[in-house]
Amino acid sequence: MDNLAKTLQECKKELALKDEKIAKLQKALDEKNNTNYQEKKPLEQDELIKIHTRQALMGEMIEMILHQWRQPLSTFALATSTLQLFKETGDLNDTIFEKYTDIMMNNVYFLNETISIFRDFFDNKQEIKKTKPSVIMHKIFILISPIIKQYNDIFSIEFKNDIWFTIDENELIQVLLNIFKNSMDEFNKKKTPNPSIQVRFILENKYINIEIEDNAGGIENSIIDKIFDKKFTTKHTSMGTGLGLYISKDIIEKNLNGEIFALNGTYGAIFKLKIPIS
Ligand SMILES: Nc1ncnc2c1ncn2[C@@H]1O[C@H](COP(=O)(O)OP(=O)(O)OP(=O)(O)O)[C@@H](O)[C@H]1O
Ligand SMILES: [Mg+2]
Repeated sequence: MDNLAKTLQECKKELALKDEKIAKLQKALDEKNNTNYQEKKPLEQDELIKIHTRQALMGEMIEMILHQWRQPLSTFALATSTLQLFKETGDLNDTIFEKYTDIMMNNVYFLNETISIFRDFFDNKQEIKKTKPSVIMHKIFILISPIIKQYNDIFSIEFKNDIWFTIDENELIQVLLNIFKNSMDEFNKKKTPNPSIQVRFILENKYINIEIEDNAGGIENSIIDKIFDKKFTTKHTSMGTGLGLYISKDIIEKNLNGEIFALNGTYGAIFKLKIPIS
């Protein structure tokens, strides 16, 4: 009986100790959750904003993509009916057959590539991948061509060292799209006669430098310090949210550990990006 009482006493003590330990753990956990909550909240909000701005871009593009797809699809249909015609008239030979199946395959390839580039970009997956400047610009061309029809006339791209490196490609593409879209907005606003965007990629040992220069007249000096601020915009509410450059700076600094700044050149705004690469 004595023994039992002793054991019970010991058990009680042990239980009390455990309770104390649990209480301590719980307190520590609560504190951690609290700080996590406070630290995480703005981050999560920014993450949401980032997704929203990407989706807003998607909204603009979707309609145009349908137009973009119409052309390769009708080329495909035309090639099919031309082949049928040759067959019916008995004029179908190997050369003609190959010529038209090539056209069909190229268009299927183009549609397929477009779909996968769009899907990859809107996936919101953070993924470090191997890429190079020309690949990035090709993807941007596919993504932006529904919006910017005169892409080839507007863009001039210079690669110093078009070599492979590793980066979160989607994040970088999102930033470049924001910057290009701003230039396009300025061209429209100012009715720039010969709009041009020069993009220079300079790959150094451990960094990629990207310079984007437009000829839309530049950023007004009185606002140049504010353009990266959250919700700073000079556009009508239906035209801009003021989040494009805020998100871009956030991505460059927090996700890609790089730097971004803006200045005015002779003909327009210049954006400079410096991002560490591996
Ligand atoms: N290339 C540029 N030339 C002149 N002004 C610019 C240029 N890029 C940005 N700005 C100025 O910086 C402001 C902020 O740009 P930001 O991309 O953050 O927002 P926005 O374009 O106004 O709206 P959103 O991108 O959310 O649609 C713009 O409203 C514009 O006044
Ligand atoms: Mg913008």
